[in-house]
Amino acid sequence: MNRKPIVAGNWKMNMTTSEAVEFVASFKNLAESLSETVDIIICPPFVSLEKVSSILADSSIYSGAQNIHWEDSGAYTGEISAKMLKDIGVKYVIIGHSERRQYFGETDEVVESKVLTALKNNLMPIICIGETLEQREDGLVEKVINKQLTKAISSINIEQAKNITIAYEPIWAIGTGINANPEDANEAAGLIRKILNERFENIANSIRIQYGGSVTSDNFNEFMRQKEVDGALVGGASLKLDEFFKITKTATKY
Ligand code: PGA
Repeated sequence: MNRKPIVAGNWKMNMTTSEAVEFVASFKNLAESLSETVDIIICPPFVSLEKVSSILADSSIYSGAQNIHWEDSGAYTGEISAKMLKDIGVKYVIIGHSERRQYFGETDEVVESKVLTALKNNLMPIICIGETLEQREDGLVEKVINKQLTKAISSINIEQAKNITIAYEPIWAIGTGINANPEDANEAAGLIRKILNERFENIANSIRIQYGGSVTSDNFNEFMRQKEVDGALVGGASLKLDEFFKITKTATKY
């Protein structure tokens, strides 16, 4: 099965709106022609999303949010809904990033409802899962992946599942400069595909799986060479124009 590679840049809480505008305008010029062979997504902080989305509107590079609330509207001070994002042209949303789980108490149940809300509002969720170092050392990788993924996709149907992407992000590899071994990432992605296959048999092979955790232009090719890895969710390296461009360009070879 030939899956189109997918590379997303997660800027986290970095870049002002002026910096974001400058970056995205330059990146668009550089990378626009790559989008035929790789889906590219830029996920800036909420305050820059509208401007970034409008710069990208006439290109086939997409904007994405780093989070959503599970309700469409209501008394949830400080939150942003899927509907609001859709309205400004956002296409993707990262859900269940380990930093949200760790610092903002997001549970598997919260992730499940956000995934469903995103899909109901025609946003494409990038669902993040992955183990801690302790869990890996204790041999719990399969168990953790199984628990997080099974819950995250438990209330969506097969039609909706066509629009999800899974990001395998071992927590110990995020922002540490210590990337996972590409073969281990492939093994984890294989487990993910097996779970998807049990749930959505006919389409499991078309769902894309990214690796995330200290991806750079130097190591990305090894990840792309793996059978089950279809792209990357990139943090730190997505803040550097040349680096992110090189990473997206590498993906076009697959
Ligand atoms: P990193 O972050 O590339 O800086 O390790 C990845 C992520 O958190 O998605």
